[in-house]
Amino acid sequence: MDTADINTSISTLSTPREFIQWAVDRFEEAELWYGHGTDNALDEAAFLILRTLGFDFDADEAQLNKPLSDEQKASLLSRIRERITTRRPVAYILSEAWFAGLPFYVNQDVLIPRSPIAELITEEFRPWCDPARIKTVLDIGTGSGCIAIATALALPHVHVDAVDISPEALKVAARNIEHYKLADRITLIESDLFSALTGKTYDLIIANPPYVDARDRAELPAEYRFEPERGLYAGPDGLDYVRRILKAATRYLNPEGTLVVEVGNSQYALEDAYPEVPFLWLDFEHGGEGVFLFNLEELLRWFHQ
Ligand SMILES: C[S@@+](CC[C@H](N)C(=O)[O-])C[C@H]1O[C@@H](n2cnc3c(N)ncnc32)[C@H](O)[C@@H]1O
Repeated sequence: MDTADINTSISTLSTPREFIQWAVDRFEEAELWYGHGTDNALDEAAFLILRTLGFDFDADEAQLNKPLSDEQKASLLSRIRERITTRRPVAYILSEAWFAGLPFYVNQDVLIPRSPIAELITEEFRPWCDPARIKTVLDIGTGSGCIAIATALALPHVHVDAVDISPEALKVAARNIEHYKLADRITLIESDLFSALTGKTYDLIIANPPYVDARDRAELPAEYRFEPERGLYAGPDGLDYVRRILKAATRYLNPEGTLVVEVGNSQYALEDAYPEVPFLWLDFEHGGEGVFLFNLEELLRWFHQ
């Protein structure tokens, strides 16, 4: 799409609705990749345009059909162009991502939140856990803090320890924790998995560690190159971190405790690596896969010889 073409076509656009439709056509033409909070051109365009204008996702007819100022049009055009020419995901362009129905500040030091674990959180971990019995939670690889924060908001009686190896990611998490006024209920800890947690135990451990294997790494669309490498990659078979978590988790769980881990499509490599273990893979109504769950008893049986 060259500048002359853009200038000709945008001169006919006036309202947010017209900009959304125009962006959908441009996004489809450019064959963008959607995997960072949306899964199609319409949702991607609506996210970019509505949030650039400061509208909610349920903007009404009057907002969608109101003519835009020249300044608003210029700002929309520049962001649509950035999405197409650089392939930068919309969440990074806006510095905003949504998880479990909540907005989070994001920058390129953290992965864009998209874990199906959001659905577990909004269901308060039922039917797998009794929410009333969860008092202490550990979030491994907290990134933006999305899982720790959404969990603390869903379960107002819990305390969450949230660890990450990346000091830059912890800064982003701290900003989000401050926004949600949760500093007294979430403790951020710089740690290589469990290394800084000696002696602590939890009712629930949630981990969304890096799990992209070497083959997927070579084939990832350009959009993923904006994300921090240490948020994504996990060795040749994608299991570098999950192996370590499975080996150590028994020492950090309370007797009735539960471990939830996301491994995405490294679930097949995990099943091959532990053929004797009956992994329980969770089903999600809103999409996503590769999340398994164990209680302490099962973990001790399968991973603590
Ligand atoms: C897949 S991202 C998940 C981020 C966030 N929990 C989410 O769901 O959006 C993995 C996170 O693990 C962190 N990480 C990578 N290696 C780690 C390690 N050895 N110990 C702790 N955190 C680690 C990365 O910095 C990154 O923030």
